[in-house]
Amino acid sequence: MAAWRGGRSLTWVTGAVTFLVSILTAFTGYVSQTNFDSQWIATQAKDGINATGGGAYFNVLNLGQMLMWHIVLLPIAAVVLTACMSSWSVPRRRAPLR
Ligand code: HEM
Repeated sequence: MAAWRGGRSLTWVTGAVTFLVSILTAFTGYVSQTNFDSQWIATQAKDGINATGGGAYFNVLNLGQMLMWHIVLLPIAAVVLTACMSSWSVPRRRAPLR
């Protein structure tokens, strides 16, 4: 626990954001299947996203847009975030004990 302490807050936040990005990647993959399940879920999600005002930016009924998020944009975001996290989580050199 307390993984954010000891100067690791940026690592913790990056990990949480990467987790959210992976959820979005899974969701956009699911709606890319174009079967009845995925069309139903996309229609429900469209209503939810429109209720928040986000529908102008993110159209879950647009297959091309969802596939592009799924196979290009979100994977790039996940890779970049993971690279940042790995470089930030290198342990700091501590001052020698006296
Ligand atoms: C973290 C990375 C990824 C996650 C978590 C993920 C997750 C998923 C999920 C949950 C599905 C629905 C699959 C199903 O239920 O049948 C899916 C479908 C799909 N994914 Fe991914 N995916 C990832 C990366 C990628 C990448 C890098 C590509 C291609 C370059 C890709 C291409 C596809 C395609 C084409 C489908 C639709 C498949 C179908 O028609 O059944 N995914 N993905």
